[in-house]
Amino acid sequence: MPAQVVLGAQWGDEGKGKLVDQLAQDSDWVARFQGGNNAGHTIVLGDQVLKLHQLPSGLTNPNCQLVLGAGMVVDPWVLEEELDRWKESSNETPEGERLWISERAHVNLPFHRLYDGADKKIGTTGRGIGPTYRDKIERVGVRFCDLKHRREDPNWLTENSARMTSQLEAHGVEGEISAADLKESLDWVEDRFGAAIKPTGLMLDLALRQGQNVLLEGAQGSLLDIDHGTYPFVTSSVTSRANATHGAGIHPGQVGEVYGVVKAYTTRVGHGPFPSELFDEVGAYMGEMGHEFGTTTGRPRRCGWLDLVVLRHSHRLNGFTQLTLTKLDVLGGLDELEVVVGYDLDGQHLSEMPACAEDQARVTCITEKVAGFAHMDTSEWLELARRANSEGVGYSALPQGAREYVEKVEAWLGIPITSVGVGPDRDATVFKV
Ligand code: IMP
Repeated sequence: MPAQVVLGAQWGDEGKGKLVDQLAQDSDWVARFQGGNNAGHTIVLGDQVLKLHQLPSGLTNPNCQLVLGAGMVVDPWVLEEELDRWKESSNETPEGERLWISERAHVNLPFHRLYDGADKKIGTTGRGIGPTYRDKIERVGVRFCDLKHRREDPNWLTENSARMTSQLEAHGVEGEISAADLKESLDWVEDRFGAAIKPTGLMLDLALRQGQNVLLEGAQGSLLDIDHGTYPFVTSSVTSRANATHGAGIHPGQVGEVYGVVKAYTTRVGHGPFPSELFDEVGAYMGEMGHEFGTTTGRPRRCGWLDLVVLRHSHRLNGFTQLTLTKLDVLGGLDELEVVVGYDLDGQHLSEMPACAEDQARVTCITEKVAGFAHMDTSEWLELARRANSEGVGYSALPQGAREYVEKVEAWLGIPITSVGVGPDRDATVFKV
């Protein structure tokens, strides 16, 4: 059975966690394949709210094996905090039992976090993601399989602690890293997580060959992709389908379904162009009703209309086999909705995203208006979703305007929308019939 992939189709924060959490209930394995603790997935389980930054969302299924793949940068200190919180609520310690870290994943060290904390240009999450990937590309990074050698190598420790200190200084960041500090960090990581470090690509390949269910969980979104996103205001990894298998250590032919997760409107955190951004009360309404604050940094997210140019770009890169539309309930209460169908750049009509950040910032949006639908409480939407699914009536249970919105987006993009999120609860999803 081929692996399934879940990807964000916009600028991240589309609500992937909820879908992955649902799919993970039937998965034997859930693997992350890129990024690090810059991601933030919120899972609501009744009264319990779980915020995961690094652990795969499959955590909540006790029978699911969890992988932090080779394409990731893993901060072991943040991982420990997340595992501590999980232990408090579940009494489980999955590391070395069902949580596996790829031996090829890179270690996000305190140095990387310090360095990234000084970023003012991109509006990064400050977690050290870019600097860890930079060290990887420069071939000076530390992978989990390297820990045992590096910590015993005084020359390596001296040279690299000096490199880190001088880079901090050149970047205007206070802080000195001694060879002893660096050794202490590597010792701690190896001692704490050594039992969980494994050849996870081999494990996933074997699982697939044995017919097990494997889910590859994306982080961030297509427009934050280092190659195809709104560069330079992007993250440092390839967020698309092509890297789902590569970053997990298996091959592209091993993938079946590719779920694109699309928020019913658009949000972005951090700096950078955002053509459909709204600076008026409608944008503020989306932010308020959608509780649009970054899971990782708490920053308010910028909000705007759904943008089909963004989604076409994303679909070309990822070849989604189906879409999940999330947070449709948030749009309830707006009299009229707009959807971006193209851009205007100096009088020229564009149906595709320009590559250059300056052009992305200058385009104006061409929109189509569609009727809105009334506001309903979270509990009313939850009730509606439960009824729609139990009676098997699908989208016909949605208010007329909401249903028409879903059908129009589906027709515009030509990709089936197989479920629609109408609230944060796990059950607040209406499935297509
Ligand atoms: P970095 O990934 O921390 O280097 O940040 C680079 C850009 O990606 C910034 O604009 C961040 O706000 C954005 N970003 C990183 N991770 C996420 C995410 O999970 N959701 C939304 N935006 C993100």
